[in-house]
Amino acid sequence: MEHLRLGVNIDHVATVRNARGGAYPDPLRAAKLAEEAGADGITAHLREDRRHITDADIEGLTEALAVPLNFEMAATEEMQAIALRHKPHAVCIVPEKREERTTEGGLEVAQDENRLAHFIAPLAEAGCRVSIFIAADPRQIEAANRIGAQVIELHTGAYCDAHAEGRFDDRDAELERLRDMSAFGHSLGLEVHAGHGLTYDTVAPIAAFPELRELNIGHFLVGEAIFRGLTPAIAEMRRLMDEARGVTP
Ligand code: PXP
Repeated sequence: MEHLRLGVNIDHVATVRNARGGAYPDPLRAAKLAEEAGADGITAHLREDRRHITDADIEGLTEALAVPLNFEMAATEEMQAIALRHKPHAVCIVPEKREERTTEGGLEVAQDENRLAHFIAPLAEAGCRVSIFIAADPRQIEAANRIGAQVIELHTGAYCDAHAEGRFDDRDAELERLRDMSAFGHSLGLEVHAGHGLTYDTVAPIAAFPELRELNIGHFLVGEAIFRGLTPAIAEMRRLMDEARGVTP
């Protein structure tokens, strides 16, 4: 099986920093450490309200990272201009509601195809790999393909929530859906990623999907770093991903 990349999302290092309004802890330092710990990429979401990552963080990450930056953004003109200025390796288009605590669902691509096709075209022309964060739904996957996205990221939140709440039948149904849609996306020629809510307990069945090329994981790793440190937290996630894919150390 091909190498499954691990993108480490450092948003919540910025959440802790912003709780005190100062400069500590620095998400850029976390990103460099994650890089040394074996992250294949760094993911950061610049939200409209700047609740965690700031414009200055994106500038710092663009300058300092050796691994690719995956810039998560809403489909707004403001974010498009920022992405075109920094030209990150990848942009991931996510839905964004001001009142939500986190990215709750996937992007509604099927009902917004024209606008999204025009929105992503300049990003792709600027050399960014364009990823669309969507639910594991064939309508959305087909629409993402039609608008010219190179990558889809499947939302694993419902699967992880069902696991956490002990709804194991729902969890297994979600897992089945994600597995089928990973294969479907790949069959259309899309590169398939996944993420949201993944933990040590939920990562293995997802990491075993043969078509999958990347996982993006943030909240759990930043939380786990409190207990065991960021480097061991990432190393354990890497180990579980490799084990699920039958990679021998
Ligand atoms: N992928 C996307 C597109 C996201 O929006 C997020 C959350 O910002 C993640 C992955 C990571 O989710 P989590 O922080 O729950 O691991």
